[in-house]
Amino acid sequence: MIEILQVDITTLAVDAIVNAANHSLLGGGGVDGAIHRAAGPELKQYNQTLGGCPTGEARLSPGFNLPAKHVISTVGPVWYGGERGEAVLLDNAYRNSFILALQHDIKSIAFPAISTGVYAYPKDMAARTALLVMKEYEDKFERIIAACHTREDMKIYQSVSAGLS
Ligand code: APR
Repeated sequence: MIEILQVDITTLAVDAIVNAANHSLLGGGGVDGAIHRAAGPELKQYNQTLGGCPTGEARLSPGFNLPAKHVISTVGPVWYGGERGEAVLLDNAYRNSFILALQHDIKSIAFPAISTGVYAYPKDMAARTALLVMKEYEDKFERIIAACHTREDMKIYQSVSAGLS
């Protein structure tokens, strides 16, 4: 079941929320900043033991003060115009987050719109990539949530999703 919601991802009491992190995993702005603020300083302390994360890969940590049990940090690609393999790297970020979730018996998972903020990935193209991977994994999870921060983002996800079905 894929749900497209306008919601602050840090409020979701799911097994895992996914963070659009940077390579250091030590926090930043955007959703990364929101998740670290809500999780508390232990998230950064824990992530310091992980040794970073390459683009397209994913790393698991406890949720600490978040209502979510776990945080899956992934690093999306920076958008350089689409000629540097950005689509494959974004697909990898969603896919590797799902693979890691399955390895830890996670049944409910929420994603932000990875790479569409600071990393400037076009929202509609990113939504298409995200939804195609979500549909591929739909039957392996009880809940998959596309946690859109704004109404505009939710509308983009809804229209892209309608175009896929
Ligand atoms: N809940 C859900 N979505 C959110 C929230 C939130 N609380 N806060 C922001 N977002 C949305 C943004 O509106 C955007 O649609 O998350 C999406 C991803 O945007 P960014 O957070 O800017 O992430 P990204 O584009 O992947 O850039 C990652 O930004 O914050 C730094 O450390 C981070 O270097 C990394 C880079």
